[in-house]
Amino acid sequence: MCGIVGYVGSSKKSANSEGEKRAVRVVLGGLRRLEYRGYDSAGIAVLAGSGISSRKRAGKLANLELLLDSDPLPAAAVGIGHTRWATHGSPTDANAHPHLADNGGLAVIHNGIIENCGPLRGRLIDGGHEFLSETDTEVAAALLAENYRRAAESPANGDALAVAMRRTCAQLEGSFTILAVHREHPGLIVAARRNSPLVVGRGDGENFLGSDVSGFIDFTRRAVELGQDQVVSLTADEVVITDFRGEPAAGTEFTVDWDAAAATKDGYPSFMAKEIQEQPEAVRRTLQGRLDTDGSLSLGQLGISDQTLAGIRKIIIVACGTASYGGQIAKYAIERWCRIPVEVDFAHEFRYRSPLLDDRTLVVAISQSGETMDTLMAVRYAREQGATVLAICNTVGATIPRESDGVLYTHAGPEVAVASTKAFLTQVTAGLLLALHLARLRKSGPPLEISAAARELSRIPEKIRLVLTTEDQIAALAESMAGERAVLFIGRHVGHPVAMEGALKLKELAYIHAEGFAAGELKHGPIALIEPSQAVVVIVPSLAGSPILHAKMISTIQEIKARGGRVIALVEEGDDVTGAWADALLTVPSTIPLLAPLLTTIPLQLFAAHLAGAKGLDIDQPRNLAKSVTVE
Ligand code: F6R
Repeated sequence: MCGIVGYVGSSKKSANSEGEKRAVRVVLGGLRRLEYRGYDSAGIAVLAGSGISSRKRAGKLANLELLLDSDPLPAAAVGIGHTRWATHGSPTDANAHPHLADNGGLAVIHNGIIENCGPLRGRLIDGGHEFLSETDTEVAAALLAENYRRAAESPANGDALAVAMRRTCAQLEGSFTILAVHREHPGLIVAARRNSPLVVGRGDGENFLGSDVSGFIDFTRRAVELGQDQVVSLTADEVVITDFRGEPAAGTEFTVDWDAAAATKDGYPSFMAKEIQEQPEAVRRTLQGRLDTDGSLSLGQLGISDQTLAGIRKIIIVACGTASYGGQIAKYAIERWCRIPVEVDFAHEFRYRSPLLDDRTLVVAISQSGETMDTLMAVRYAREQGATVLAICNTVGATIPRESDGVLYTHAGPEVAVASTKAFLTQVTAGLLLALHLARLRKSGPPLEISAAARELSRIPEKIRLVLTTEDQIAALAESMAGERAVLFIGRHVGHPVAMEGALKLKELAYIHAEGFAAGELKHGPIALIEPSQAVVVIVPSLAGSPILHAKMISTIQEIKARGGRVIALVEEGDDVTGAWADALLTVPSTIPLLAPLLTTIPLQLFAAHLAGAKGLDIDQPRNLAKSVTVE
């Protein structure tokens, strides 16, 4: 949510090796990679001999690029850039970042929400400050300018900008990453973070800042994750970190282990198309070193002792959106195999309902980004209440795994498309691995079924590959449905969360009203929505694996048909019953029922992507959305 980039080079380097446009080039490149975090508007400020110059534009980054072509920024070795997901104030040129203060001498960009911006704004207006935008960021800029003028009066404050940043942060409430440059400090960026991510990239004679490493992955893999409530002063040669009181502090150093090419489209029409195709490999990587083909399992260092896990009495899974559907699938497996009660809660609901937690409760927080604020707050709450927290996360070193007791990384690789695909499949895989691990530790559940499930899980990447070969059939179906006004999705058992995920994908990508229901619930109300031609996607349980549920689903299909509905049935290979009732039939390879979501979700992802494509929509950056929702 909002992408932030900073760059400090030496003027020597910028003149010699990269020409005069190094800062603009680096910052713009970083913004292109971070645009997935928000794309309502974008802006850049550079700090050159002449002071601060900035350009900003509402709309996608391409609009800013056009502006820079017609009105270029001056040569500079220092720059900051921002791509916005609007919170305070609509997406206009005026509300785009950077925001200037101190008579144009200070430029600020920000990610997050400043919760006390109302009273601060009022006080600053009373003091004579005039605001040009509706944003909370401009309030932070004005406050920083005020603190800067005070700090700069004292000759002892050679680092007046950092002093002012610390004072400002102490006055702000909410979540923020703030970057600032000041014309009186050429060659310096000062940045701070609370509850919002910021990573430093260490280069050779140059340094970088990014909301995540993709902001600078083209230039360096040496990274430092800033801790909570830290301020960093960045020059071309130095990275100085303190806490908000000015005490020396350190971030967490790490080496980025993925290639810059992993975050490119690599010839695919969209990141989403590429990420869907990467799913066999993503799931294989999640299983690698953890599960052998003979079903033997070793989860390695989870960070939580076997003794603690063996003593767990209750599990609560917290997550949002797609990740929460992954959690619902894990619930079925954990309850069946481990005989532990599992609740699944949206992270934003969890801590406000007074959940019952104790030291024998395991809270599993699922998050692709590891930065989702709702989920992070649930993690903090759970730990305060004495529960043990395990993160299932795709982003190494992100805040949620860092603040949890243990972590199971999903290794899906960077997911750039806003709609989650490969991350979801690997979250489901991780949930199943956790269920198998707990079952073995606790010696619970039906042993033959559990061993068979473990062996079958190791074969899943190959079966995912087979599902992907049916893309042309799904594309043709989706294209024929581009005029649809509403689509319903129904499933039973683990097919229910799959139905909800299918509906979410269609809503967010194709802007079509879609709902996912438990099929058994249809007759208790939603069946009123069925009118002639209403399309219903039915995730049909396995005929061989769940004959009773299959028979019940056939009855539901008949009820839909009797009211004129159109049925698109998603069945398992070998199902020779459903076809007689379906208007369209999609088939996936057979597997054991608890693993089926790893296959049945894929046609629904392809369906949504192709339908959105047929409507000419932006598949990677759907309207109003952003990846990594770092506000509550
Ligand atoms: C939908 C989607 C979102 C995310 C949700 C949680 O396609 O991607 O619903 O799943 O915002 O994000 P993470 O997993 O980063 O916590």
